[in-house]
Amino acid sequence: MPARASQGEAMTANLPRVTYSNIGADFRPLHDMLDRSIPAFEQRWLGRDWSNRIAGRSDDEGRRYPVVSPIDHGLALGSFVEAAPDAVGRAVEAAAAAWPRWSSLSWQERLKIMRRAAELLDRRKYDLGIACLIEVGKSRLEAIGEAEEAVDLMRYYCDEMERNEGFRRPMGRAFPQEETRDMLKPFGVFGVIAPFNFPLALSVNMMSGALIAGNTVVYKPSPAAGLTGSLLIDTLAEAGLPEGAVNLVCGGGEVGRALVDAPGLAGIAFTGSYATGMEILRKLASGRHARPAILEMGGKNPSYVTAKADLATAAAGVMRSAFGLQGQKCSAGSKVYVANDVRAEFLEQLVALSAQIKVGDPRRVENYMGPVIDRRAVERFEAAAAAARAEGEILLGGTRLTGGLFDKGTYVAPTIVTGLAPDHAVNRDELFLPFLSVLGYDDLGDAIDDGNDIAYGLTAGIYSEDERELDFFFGRAEAGVLYANRASGATTGAWPGIQTFAGWKGSGGPGGKGGLGPYYVQQFMREQSHTIMRKG
Ligand code: UN1
Repeated sequence: MPARASQGEAMTANLPRVTYSNIGADFRPLHDMLDRSIPAFEQRWLGRDWSNRIAGRSDDEGRRYPVVSPIDHGLALGSFVEAAPDAVGRAVEAAAAAWPRWSSLSWQERLKIMRRAAELLDRRKYDLGIACLIEVGKSRLEAIGEAEEAVDLMRYYCDEMERNEGFRRPMGRAFPQEETRDMLKPFGVFGVIAPFNFPLALSVNMMSGALIAGNTVVYKPSPAAGLTGSLLIDTLAEAGLPEGAVNLVCGGGEVGRALVDAPGLAGIAFTGSYATGMEILRKLASGRHARPAILEMGGKNPSYVTAKADLATAAAGVMRSAFGLQGQKCSAGSKVYVANDVRAEFLEQLVALSAQIKVGDPRRVENYMGPVIDRRAVERFEAAAAAARAEGEILLGGTRLTGGLFDKGTYVAPTIVTGLAPDHAVNRDELFLPFLSVLGYDDLGDAIDDGNDIAYGLTAGIYSEDERELDFFFGRAEAGVLYANRASGATTGAWPGIQTFAGWKGSGGPGGKGGLGPYYVQQFMREQSHTIMRKG
């Protein structure tokens, strides 16, 4: 993004930081700025024709497709190029050509460039956050929180590389004259395939992991998020990465498949659905040798409200994780197990709180929920609501919203259902919707076992004032991110350098390590030891 796009820095200095969790902060100065910046962003950036970027140049080989905002289908985001198979191949070649130079820089030199990229990202975070808001339909605080998260992610991974001294260390000696050092080295060209829901943070997560480690990248954003992806690539290019170190190919599943199949690809970092992630993993395990697939897939994240919970805190946290970003998070809370003793009281509070949620144009400060991403999401919502109506009970919502702006976009009501059998598809499959299922329990162990009995294992939360129950939960829950007693989110809100984000089971890859923490960057590297026997 050219410098002219940046907000007046004086205007944005000292604004409060949004971290998903600081829900009590005074964000008024931020909202005042956004009142001015959102229309300015729209004027400047919407409705353009964007190109792919290969070897540092614009590339238009492929079919052009228009994208509209889920907020209002009359709001044209712009047009993008679905990269032709040949263009995908050229992007991988360009990344391969850039690799010797990028990987042979010292890690300190690479960090200098990546820290410059983080600095540029920081300066442009409000514009990039607004891009996410308009493109995906996330609320103001979700969007700006994501932009802050992206900046922190890049800086955190740089710091980790430094703390580990580039992952180089002297080893033991078998003989006095023998010297051995161990090191991690980059693999080569990584394909980075990103989802729509965190188009900035998750793209930055995977790309900065790959780049800091010394790999080069071919990046495919979600077809719904080409605007954020293009602005992000422009920012990285300006930071001084060598030409071809990061390439952009837009498009959907076909382009993703062409990328995974491209000769010369060393590995894939992917965040998205379980089905696609597993397909990628199988592909990378075949061929002459296995290649790394760094995967973050879906979730079906449970929370538990025990008889010893502070119910007001529990209701707030469960509500926020179920309905923030319209439930379209891998970490969204999609079912809650409540001790039968407090079930009625908890439900009363949860439903009352959730009924106050304002759904509407997320550009406006008062709206907590915006649209879901597309018509298919609405169809999925209507099918789940019909099942709940037939086999259980709908406590809140259950309908698509209509009238006014709702007719121009894809809006559904925050929905709470109960009475569905534990093995009902709604309680087992990821819906990626603002749809929460409530189950009662008598025994916490049984509830946690049922919450574990799914293909996924990303996040889980508990509400209890009893330390023994917390310990029990931490010992028994099968998920990589566990939270207790958070009003800001039962299962959501992980932050770089604070909560690590590892998907267990079907939520992650076979390596068992995740993002946002100290074991991310090294997944993009392979180990080598050098032993030298000296004379005398
Ligand atoms: C996601 O849940 O899809 O933990 C990504 C969170 C954020 C986003 C994670 N760090 O809520």
